[in-house]
Amino acid sequence: MAASHFQVEGYPAEIDSRLSDWALWTTRSGKIADGSNADRACEFSSRFLEDIALVKQLNLNSYRTSLNWPALLPDRPGPGKRKLNSQAVQYYKRLFFTLKEEGITTFLTLFHFCLPTWIADDGGWTGRMAADEFAYFSELAAGQFGEYVDYWITINEPVAYAYQSFVSGLWPPGTSRNYDGAFATVRYMLEGHARAYQAIKEQSADTPVSFSNHWRPFFPENPLNPLDQMVIYFRDNIFNHIFPRSIEAGGLELPAVVARLGDLKRLNGEIAGLKGSMDYLAVNYYTRELSRFVFGWPVDPFGIKSSKADFDTNSLGWETYPQGLFDVLTRAIAPYKTGIDGKSRPVIITENGYAETYAADLSEGDWSIADKQRTAYLKLHLQSLHRAIMAGVNVIGYLHWSLTDNFEWAEGLSPRFGLVRVAYPTQTRTFRESARLFSQVAKTNVLDSREV
Ligand code: FCB
Repeated sequence: MAASHFQVEGYPAEIDSRLSDWALWTTRSGKIADGSNADRACEFSSRFLEDIALVKQLNLNSYRTSLNWPALLPDRPGPGKRKLNSQAVQYYKRLFFTLKEEGITTFLTLFHFCLPTWIADDGGWTGRMAADEFAYFSELAAGQFGEYVDYWITINEPVAYAYQSFVSGLWPPGTSRNYDGAFATVRYMLEGHARAYQAIKEQSADTPVSFSNHWRPFFPENPLNPLDQMVIYFRDNIFNHIFPRSIEAGGLELPAVVARLGDLKRLNGEIAGLKGSMDYLAVNYYTRELSRFVFGWPVDPFGIKSSKADFDTNSLGWETYPQGLFDVLTRAIAPYKTGIDGKSRPVIITENGYAETYAADLSEGDWSIADKQRTAYLKLHLQSLHRAIMAGVNVIGYLHWSLTDNFEWAEGLSPRFGLVRVAYPTQTRTFRESARLFSQVAKTNVLDSREV
């Protein structure tokens, strides 16, 4: 089961003082599509015992979340040595202790989209300072929490983050078509990842560490149009592969056409400690994407997402395309399946899920419980996963996004990704039908193919 801190926590100290860029962003008018915010979200920070009990009731054995970096280390460097905030440390220790006691495997992400506000104000990941700060935070976090963590994830979906923050502009800092900002972010995230990887390894040499990649097969809107073909070549090359390829190579090497955009060549080069820093492959998969070229000057090799769709879409417009999961597992990740030690890297699906939209202020009633489309999505993707395992892919885990409904970034609280419904006004949790299916599969390890 996968989640991230900001999307569920409603951590009072963070919200009251707007310690993170996201806590601040949600206060700006027009930034969140449905006008909601994450001030309470699922109140996970005070209700986690209840939610872990749900994980157990559903026969699930793994839980993924992230650390609230802004709450744990809110301040700029000063004269004395900075330590993690003790209240936040106590909260996370209680959470991780509970997971251990319940026999639940813990996946912990260090960066899931939220920066301490002061780092965001100083340029965020576009500069080395964020990588330095992240390295320091990772070292402290590995020291405090290392004994509880079974799998570390340094950074969640680095390229999706760079894209939303600097190209679409839907996330803070909200600049659009700023390729310089996007690629500088990728460059310093690679460095931050490498340093976090090394910091964890120094303290917990045997715990697997990776980053999670958002894999999205790209297709041309018009297969006969060579310009659309060019766009999908660059989208696939950058969006899907730039991070894992750089890790394998030990440095960043942008394709020549891209490096010539502005002054991007400066970002190329070796990065200390990066090579091979990926112990397993953490795969996030939701959908495929149709893309197309747009005329303009200077020529934009990345084009835009097409608004067309060939398959059923979820409420965010994402096509249900289970074949894509099979293709990612059997083909797209193949160049990375062997580590530098010559051993096969295990593969874990660290996110996969389906959204339906229901207004954030709904409370009691029978809305959304019969979630037929999510149930179908889940079955189809588990079937693809099974086919990939039969084809020899070393998949050892599947974490569904998500246990409960939660705050879906720029879209707000209304897209519902939960197997468990959350009525936000009352914070009541209710199992959906998909939860029953998933729980059955988890218990028996069988998906009845007649049901698919
Ligand atoms: C992923 C994010 C996650 C969540 C899902 C729906 O890209 O990692 O936080 O928002 O999408």
